[in-house]
Amino acid sequence: MPLIDTPDIQSALDFTALTVERTMDRLLPRGDDPEAKLFEAMRYSTLGGGRRLRAFFVMASATLFGVSAQAAQRVAAAVEFVHAYSLIHDDLPAMDNDDIRRGQPSCHKRFDEATAILAGDALQALAFEVLAHEDTHGDPAVRIQLVAGLAQAIGPHGMVAGQVADIEAAGKNLSMGQVTRLQRLKTGALISFACSAGATLAKASEPARHALVAYAHDVGLAFQITDDLLDVGGTCEETGKTSGKDVITGKATFVSLLGLERARDQASLLADQAGRHLDMFGDKAELLIQAARYVVERRR
Ligand code: IPE
Ligand code: IPE
Ligand code: MG
Ligand code: MG
Ligand code: MG
Repeated sequence: MPLIDTPDIQSALDFTALTVERTMDRLLPRGDDPEAKLFEAMRYSTLGGGRRLRAFFVMASATLFGVSAQAAQRVAAAVEFVHAYSLIHDDLPAMDNDDIRRGQPSCHKRFDEATAILAGDALQALAFEVLAHEDTHGDPAVRIQLVAGLAQAIGPHGMVAGQVADIEAAGKNLSMGQVTRLQRLKTGALISFACSAGATLAKASEPARHALVAYAHDVGLAFQITDDLLDVGGTCEETGKTSGKDVITGKATFVSLLGLERARDQASLLADQAGRHLDMFGDKAELLIQAARYVVERRR
């Protein structure tokens, strides 16, 4: 049975969310140890909502190569753990100072700042533990590639660099090139890891991996442009987070640079371009092509 057993993007996303959340639930710590509050915060921030788009990218890329469900779901769960960690820290008062996430109080509001920082730290560590475990792949070389790939995507030359750039750019006039670089690091790098994870698990050819990285390059940027558009045009009810914050805090975004209409056009252009990188996979890439459109058409 294929990993995702439906040709429709919305049901594919729903199905992915369901299966990956089950895996996440199994992998997350629980119990009444003295650290129970930490475990609760980790569970609160990972299992309480989210569209699981990055998990979907792992599962959809794994589907292209017939990877086993267990391997794909574990990598998808690891990616969602890292993503949740990044959101917990992103919402902290020292960063975006956001009180609402996924329609609920953000982690430091529901718990406290120290617990939120530590829950983020623990989720990041758990993600690497999951990737390094032999249940993720029988070949240690593949596991090392996953561990190194994720570390590169989220470390000092990846997501964290993007978060630094994002904070430092507040109130400054950045060029298109600078904003593109910032967004690619902040959001694109993890999405790129997710999209190419199927190729890594399957030890796929370099051209196949390159096609997925090229797809991710465009989809990641389209995704962040849409996030910036929704910050301006979406409601808190739709997005589950406080709207209008990017303008208030003077964030450098495509919307601040291009205005709403051109940013929308740019996102749409990137979504179409993304799909064209997958020609070599033929009909098998249909879900990923639909996902690129979903990324820019979503309202939440
Ligand atoms: C939000 O990501 C953070 C960004 C990188 C813009 P998502 O919009 O994918 O958030 P969830 O996981 O669905 O809540
Ligand atoms: C968050 O970007 C990116 C990471 C957490 C790495 P944003 O700050 O734009 O995300 P939201 O809008 O708070 O979800
Ligand atoms: Mg931020
Ligand atoms: Mg934020
Ligand atoms: Mg945002």
